[in-house]
Amino acid sequence: MTIPHIGSNHLFKTKNCGQLRADHAGEEVLLSGWVNKVRDLGGVYFLTLRDKTGIIQLGFESFKADLGILKELSLESVIQVKGKVAARPEGATNKDMPTGEVEVHVEDLKILSRAHEVPFLPHGKIEAGEDLRLKYRYLDLRSDKLQSMLSLRSEMAKRARMVLYNEDFTEVETPILYKTTPEGARDYIVPSRVHPGRVYALPQSPQTLKQLLMIAGTDRYFQICKCFRDEDLRADRQPEFSQIDIEVSFSTAEYMRGLASRMIEKIFDLPAGFDIPIMSYSDAMRDYGSDKPDVRFDLKHQDVTEKFKGCGFKTFADIASSDGLIKAMFISDKDGEFARKKIDGFTEIVKPYGGKGVAWFKVKSGEFTGGISKFITDDLKDHFNKADGLWVFCADPKKSVAHACANALRLHLGRECNLIDPNDYKFLWINDWPLFEYDDEAGRLFAAHHPFTSPKLEDFDKFKSGDVEIAKTIKAEAYDVVCNGYELAGGSVRIYDTDLQAQMFKYLDFSEEEAQRLFGFFIEALKYGTPPHAGMAFGFDRLIMLVGKTDNIRDVIAFPKTTSATDLMSSSPSKAQAVQLEELKMNFKS
Ligand code: AMO
Repeated sequence: MTIPHIGSNHLFKTKNCGQLRADHAGEEVLLSGWVNKVRDLGGVYFLTLRDKTGIIQLGFESFKADLGILKELSLESVIQVKGKVAARPEGATNKDMPTGEVEVHVEDLKILSRAHEVPFLPHGKIEAGEDLRLKYRYLDLRSDKLQSMLSLRSEMAKRARMVLYNEDFTEVETPILYKTTPEGARDYIVPSRVHPGRVYALPQSPQTLKQLLMIAGTDRYFQICKCFRDEDLRADRQPEFSQIDIEVSFSTAEYMRGLASRMIEKIFDLPAGFDIPIMSYSDAMRDYGSDKPDVRFDLKHQDVTEKFKGCGFKTFADIASSDGLIKAMFISDKDGEFARKKIDGFTEIVKPYGGKGVAWFKVKSGEFTGGISKFITDDLKDHFNKADGLWVFCADPKKSVAHACANALRLHLGRECNLIDPNDYKFLWINDWPLFEYDDEAGRLFAAHHPFTSPKLEDFDKFKSGDVEIAKTIKAEAYDVVCNGYELAGGSVRIYDTDLQAQMFKYLDFSEEEAQRLFGFFIEALKYGTPPHAGMAFGFDRLIMLVGKTDNIRDVIAFPKTTSATDLMSSSPSKAQAVQLEELKMNFKS
């Protein structure tokens, strides 16, 4: 191949920077990329050039034009070079660089786009805070780490699609301008210019739409879609995120578990035949105090409430006798020994979850010392005197508080004692959820998953009773996929009967009129021949977080928002223009 002269508009590059190796030595190449580093060793210039594929060193001994051009080069400028690949002399190779055995002897160079001084350099150790990096996201995205996350995301979307296409799924796009879809968050709404005073809601998920596709006979639907939820954000939540959304007619929870297992096997490169292990919601709460337990390590909770009934430690005795919960954990001395100061620090771990403190004592060769040891009677000693180590207790009159504190403390201890293997993936299929959660403050039931989830078949009669007290005990045909403490996916078998769906809205305190206004079209659709169906949705961003081993969701999204739902790059949300408000016939209260 004849390499054209630089400046020819026909070709910018014949090779990528990162692909050059020793066996390319002697080859003439055209390269284009960003100026990564410039070194001037007393008139001898070295420069590194970077593109998406990697970095290559350039030398200028054979440079034919005026070397003065190198003085004009700013970092991050885009240039094109023509030159010859050469093996680096012995002693000058760099084992840490994939291209470290070669360099390109540049003969000609053209500046394609001169960069102004950049706010930070997007490679090596980045010396900028997250806000600055988000403001200049396009610069931050030049980093190796973020580019490889984007590639990973693309690869994983491909793998998920391949599994689904191979199983005869149809990819269907559903609208973004839609109507409320209750997933437990607030809606983002979009005012209509054509219909002043009316709004669209952005879908919190395409839940009703995918069920309507089942009624329409689509049979097996999937979509990698955007969902919008105006809710409090955390490290693993964004207001706008993506799901691999799935719905299947004539299917069961067990079918969905099989499908999820096959997808996970391909995405996480697991051995063929992978099968997600099942754990019931109540077992997860009993052993881990969480509906998304991280089971990469053991350290299970023990319910010791009964044991402390009538004990000398008043706080525990009161909690035990008032239907509260006392959970214990044991850390053997083999896993880690904790000094008094560290134990005192446990209080800070449980405080955010409503905990007031962490009770404890130590056991060594049958001796009980420290903390609440003086209240441990001989009877109790029999239970706790198993091995040398530390016992810790989270107790609260509210069971949910004791669970949450013991979960937080377990995760903390797991990290402190290095019990968690960061390269391990442990999946769980959590099932047998309650259908409803009861909110004491609001004094009413909420859907634990969403209002389209079916009760378990054996609980249909209870469901039809319409009795709120009975409803609290109903189990749902719902499931979550959990991995390493993250909720990776959620789904359920759906209600496919109009009367049951109407009954569900009644339990959730929707007046008949409101249910009709919001979901009338959907309840009506159920009347016209609805196949039994089930589905689920994977949180696609969370999936990439797990595969890419990052605990920051912003790392896996090209243009993410901050935890206060703003885009620092485009300064969005921004004020509406007066003319827009006028067209929409809207007026904001100041
Ligand atoms: P659910 O609300 O459980 O179910 O959501 C499914 C999965 O989406 C991910 N997820 C999020 N990821 C990032 N940021 C968020 N704010 C966020 N919220 C949820 C989680 C979660 O497991 N329509 C149902 C699915 C179904 O029943 O088929 C739904 O959306 O990984």
